[in-house]
Amino acid sequence: MLVDSHCHLDLIKNSNPDTLIAAAHAQGVSHFLNVSIALDHFPTLLSIAQRIDNVFASVGIHPNTSSDMTVDVKTLKTMANDPNVIAIGETGLDYFRSQGDLTWQHQRFRTHIQAAKEVGKPLIIHSRDAAQDTLRILREENAVAIGGVMHCFVEDWETAQQAMEMGFYISFSGIVTFKNAKALQAVAKQVPLDRMLVETDAPYLAPVPYRGKTNQPAYVKHVAQFIADLREETFEKIANVTTENFFRLFSSATT
Ligand code: NI
Repeated sequence: MLVDSHCHLDLIKNSNPDTLIAAAHAQGVSHFLNVSIALDHFPTLLSIAQRIDNVFASVGIHPNTSSDMTVDVKTLKTMANDPNVIAIGETGLDYFRSQGDLTWQHQRFRTHIQAAKEVGKPLIIHSRDAAQDTLRILREENAVAIGGVMHCFVEDWETAQQAMEMGFYISFSGIVTFKNAKALQAVAKQVPLDRMLVETDAPYLAPVPYRGKTNQPAYVKHVAQFIADLREETFEKIANVTTENFFRLFSSATT
């Protein structure tokens, strides 16, 4: 059993969710968190989650999304009310693709944290070139009360530790398999097994040996296998612990 803790099924071109999920099942991938990046994507995500077993949805707005700038807590909470919605996000900060006055990005991040705490569903955090501010806002908004996952983690060990102290899990994507990702591989070796998740972030960031191609949930197997080799553990061990972690964190997900 293996879980893809972060994918975007609706963004994978020239394919459909049913085919992608069938291909993943054939590789032993059984559960999926299909992550929202904008509110107008949400109805599609919800209908996929309602229709296909073991595909869950989140509700949230990606930090780089330029629509939904002034979303309020109530809107997010209402959308998150469905039992197929198990998380709030992805939200966070991205200083790589957004520049200038980012007050709106900070405010929207705080709104997501508030909604997550009120609705009792964990956060999915996207952070790029913004680790210090991300941690600061999580602290200021008392995100420890709800926890969540640092998705597609690429930061250093210090950042991982600070996030874990606030109850966050660390999720590794295909980036960890890249040849030039030595620093990240060192972090993946150190993160306690009971705090680790794996993901594809499909259609982006396909792991080796599919690097540069369109990613899909089936390929999460290659992320788990790489981490198993790195840590000198069996594939089954990494698959089992990351699956257990997923259900511990997203406790509203039921099989
Ligand atoms: Ni994503």
